[in-house]
Amino acid sequence: MVRILFALFLVVNVLFFSGCGSPSPTSENVEVKDLKQPDFPITNHSFSQPEAVKVSHLDLKLALDFDRKVVKGSATWTLDHKQEANYVFLDVWGMQVLSVRNDQSDEPLPIILGPAHELFGQGLAIPIDGKTKTVTVEYETDPSCKALQWLPAEQTADKTMPFLYSQSQAILARTWVPCQDVPGVRFTYSAEVKAPEGMLAVMSASNPTQKAASGEYQFQMKQPIPSYLMALSAGDLVFASIGKKTGVFAEPSVIESAVYEFGDMENMLHAAEALYGDYVWDRYDVLVLPPSFPFGGMENPRLTFATPTILAGDRSLTSLVAHELAHSWSGNLVTNITWDDFWLNEGFTVYFERRIMEALYGKDFADMLAQLGFQDLEHTVAKLDAEDTHLKLDLEGRDPDEGLTDIAYEKGYFFLRMLEETVGREKFDAFLKSYFNSHAFQSMDTEGFLSYLESNLLTEEGMKEGVDLKAWVYGPGIPNNCPAIASERFASVEKAIEFWKEGAYPGKLSTKNWKSSEWQHFLRNLPMDMSQKQLSELDQNFGFTQSGNSEILSLWFVRAIHGRYAPAKPALEDFLSRVGRRKFLEPIYTAMKESDQLDWALELYGKYRSNYHAVSTGTLDELLGYSTPKA
Ligand code: BES
Ligand code: ZN
Repeated sequence: MVRILFALFLVVNVLFFSGCGSPSPTSENVEVKDLKQPDFPITNHSFSQPEAVKVSHLDLKLALDFDRKVVKGSATWTLDHKQEANYVFLDVWGMQVLSVRNDQSDEPLPIILGPAHELFGQGLAIPIDGKTKTVTVEYETDPSCKALQWLPAEQTADKTMPFLYSQSQAILARTWVPCQDVPGVRFTYSAEVKAPEGMLAVMSASNPTQKAASGEYQFQMKQPIPSYLMALSAGDLVFASIGKKTGVFAEPSVIESAVYEFGDMENMLHAAEALYGDYVWDRYDVLVLPPSFPFGGMENPRLTFATPTILAGDRSLTSLVAHELAHSWSGNLVTNITWDDFWLNEGFTVYFERRIMEALYGKDFADMLAQLGFQDLEHTVAKLDAEDTHLKLDLEGRDPDEGLTDIAYEKGYFFLRMLEETVGREKFDAFLKSYFNSHAFQSMDTEGFLSYLESNLLTEEGMKEGVDLKAWVYGPGIPNNCPAIASERFASVEKAIEFWKEGAYPGKLSTKNWKSSEWQHFLRNLPMDMSQKQLSELDQNFGFTQSGNSEILSLWFVRAIHGRYAPAKPALEDFLSRVGRRKFLEPIYTAMKESDQLDWALELYGKYRSNYHAVSTGTLDELLGYSTPKA
């Protein structure tokens, strides 16, 4: 008790001082000689200054309090330093730091927090000396913690227990674990998590496959990872195996359909290994989350987090699994060193994803995905400022989320495809394999990749100039030598659309055997100003409003909104009440806004906003000019 009071005194003390711009770095209990007051510069969206002191291992102890919607616990960091530094710096954001210690003293140290930044949180400076091996931070998150979503039972599939999940990328890890929140620092971790009885907890680590009566679980991540890959979830989860190394976690009522949907996962893993080398993370499992998850998927190592909106019932949307699996090489093994180099993660991953899809389902199929990607790229280039269409970004002082555009994904993809077509597939594959192999568990910047590329692939006379690296990496838009992809299957979709535009009844179009990609291409090319008759004929023939395919459904809803097609309204409202995936919500709410139906958008958004994760509400609040009603 005395200790807690003392710690509290220090928090108040230091916060008071830091509020006045002069943090007090010393306390009566700690011998800290001649300590220079710490500065809190921001580099790469972080206060962590890893060039002076780096963390190398994390020991995490957490208790999950679902009643208060907080995580309480401690993070003990093992340090790697040259014995000169006076402090190790961690990032924290919106959490309460309860105490700070190091292994050289039994007494708490002062809690020295830097000024709070709107986008990046705060630096936490922990005094160390040459002998310090570990530091420990006791803390508690806030219910409004940006990484964590606490879902009431009603928002889960089975409605039996509440549910928790984290989303750390890009800079939200610091909201639930005090850490050096930069992708250039890697560490191993072990964790003990106490969940309520009856729940299963899982992490981006070795995982239990069965519930423990006590609700207590242990985890190990023995390969070093960056902070944005720390992940945690807990709820009424069960596990089912798919292959020898692959499986799925989901709520009991979802598990069977997930096992079916991801039935090709083990084959994907084999295809990936055949391309670019052994899978080094032991197991690859997928966790199917409740539908509020703001992303399609997140490549948390050993355990991809995925939206249930890919459970279409026919395995048609599993390229997302190929994508997250591919990150086990591009991103998790060789990691972008800063968020300015984000294309190294995502562009490589899209390239790899499409190679996996090609290996499993053929070139036709993969090329349709690439064509859809090219259309996305064209839209994105038209929308963004020119500098934001460079592969290498400059996100200094900005939210790294702003780099999360199709430039990294699709311009990155087409850059690599152009290189493949230039040197031939065999050479390119050998190059990529050796790239992953020689940089495993390291971070990479754009320049490092370019120099590796120049010395290992573009070695022939004139090649470097021929491919025009500069235009691709440091220039705007889509360079002239971007590969063009012809798809016969899309050509016949385009024919069907022409036919329909000339007045043909939808039932007369040859749509037999169309796959999800063909339907997406069809819907994307329908006009926004369709008549009621056109909308209802299309709907009656193709059942869009009732589609179980979320990609098709969201494209259809956008057209239904523009055409004020009332029969789609109940399904649309149901979708918006459940699904929190930003990729779908953004175009749907945008369509309402752009078609002069902002009132309707705000009515629905006000009703369902609490079902969405902070990542999505951040974007949508701005889009709709929404401000939280005062209590
Ligand atoms: N790593 C990303 C998701 C991400 C990126 C989250 C940046 C936060 C910041 C993940 O691998 C991803 O790209 N997901 C996509 C799906 C994919 C198939 C393109 C998504 O969620 O839409
Ligand atoms: Zn990705």
